[in-house]
Parts: sequence; C-alpha cells; structure tokens
Amino acid sequence: MEVLYQDYLITDDKKLISPQAVKTLLDGSYWAPDRSIELIEKTIRNSICVGVFDEEELVAFARVVTDKAVFAWIADVIVNEAHRGKGVGKEIVQFIQDHPDIPAHSQLLRTRDAHGLYERYGFSKNDNIMSK
Ligand SMILES: CC(C)(COP(=O)(O)OP(=O)(O)OC[C@H]1O[C@@H](n2cnc3c(N)ncnc32)[C@H](O)[C@@H]1OP(=O)(O)O)[C@@H](O)C(=O)NCCC(=O)NCCS
Repeated sequence: MEVLYQDYLITDDKKLISPQAVKTLLDGSYWAPDRSIELIEKTIRNSICVGVFDEEELVAFARVVTDKAVFAWIADVIVNEAHRGKGVGKEIVQFIQDHPDIPAHSQLLRTRDAHGLYERYGFSKNDNIMSK
C-alpha cells in the first residue's frame, strides 16, 4: 500500500525501510533508545511496517503486529522531530486504519501522552493503553 501526503510517501514496502534508519528514529524515543539493530531487524521482519519518506529519507515509522484477522498491536510510532506538527502522525494512524491486512477493531497500543492523536480515530483511553 502506498499513499502520497504533501511531499511525503507513506508505504508498507519493507524493502525501502532500512533498519539503521529506524534505529536512528528510535534512538530518540523514550521507549526504545537502546534497541539493537538485530532486534530492530526482527521487529521489521515480523510486523507490518509503515515508513514515511521525504525524498529518500525515512522521516517517520510505525509498525503493527497482527494476526490479520481480529487483533492488531500498534507500536513504535515515531516522527523525526523536524517533521512533527505537519500531520504526518495522523496520516500514519489513518494509513493503519485503511490497510487491508489490519483489522479495524481490536487495535491496541500503549502511549505515555499521545492519547489525543488516537482518540480521533475511535480509540479510547484506559491508563496508558488505548484500544478500539
Ligand atoms: C506523537 C507523534 C507521533 C505525532 O506525530 P506528528 O506528526 O507530530 O503529529 P500530527 O502533526 O499528525 O498531529 C498530531 C495531533 O495529535 C495531537 N496530539 C495529542 N497528543 C500528542 C502528543 N503527545 N504529541 C504530538 N501530538 C499530539 C496534536 O495536538 C495534533 O492534533 P491537531 O491536529 O488537532 O493539532 C510525534 O510527535 C512523535 O513522534 N512523538 C515522539 C514519539 C511518541 O511520543 N510517539 C507516540 C508513541 S504512541
């Protein structure tokens, strides 16, 4: 699946998503600043991935662990600081909602403070777990 948003390409094509570029994004996160490249490769292999590109550069990432039938866990949603506040995060969540292999219901994720981002897509809050 591929979506164009402003000058960004949003894609689930793992061939385009370099583990090192994902590591660079996650190194700046509060939940996975030390995740090894080997673990990142494994997570990419075993997830549906969403990469957002500005030209050739990976500027945002997310992944979804799912049985492709009734359940999905959204994880590692991150936008490069320089590209935040431009709607990229919302486009990632919309891409996940529209993805044919991701069930629309029983989606879960954990977040510290981005509840407002997900509420508009039908998620509700229970402590730091969001679900729909
Ligand atoms: C959270 C994050 C993914 C949002 O991406 P973004 O591209 O900056 O967000 P968008 O421009 O699409 O806007 C997000 C919307 O959610 C809202 N929001 C709610 N909580 C937010 C939060 N903690 N951070 C950013 N936006 C938040 C924004 O106000 C905005 O609403 P608006 O359109 O009414 O102004 C990004 O800021 C980021 O990578 N943050 C650091 C990592 C992180 O916290 N990831 C979430 C883990 S689940």
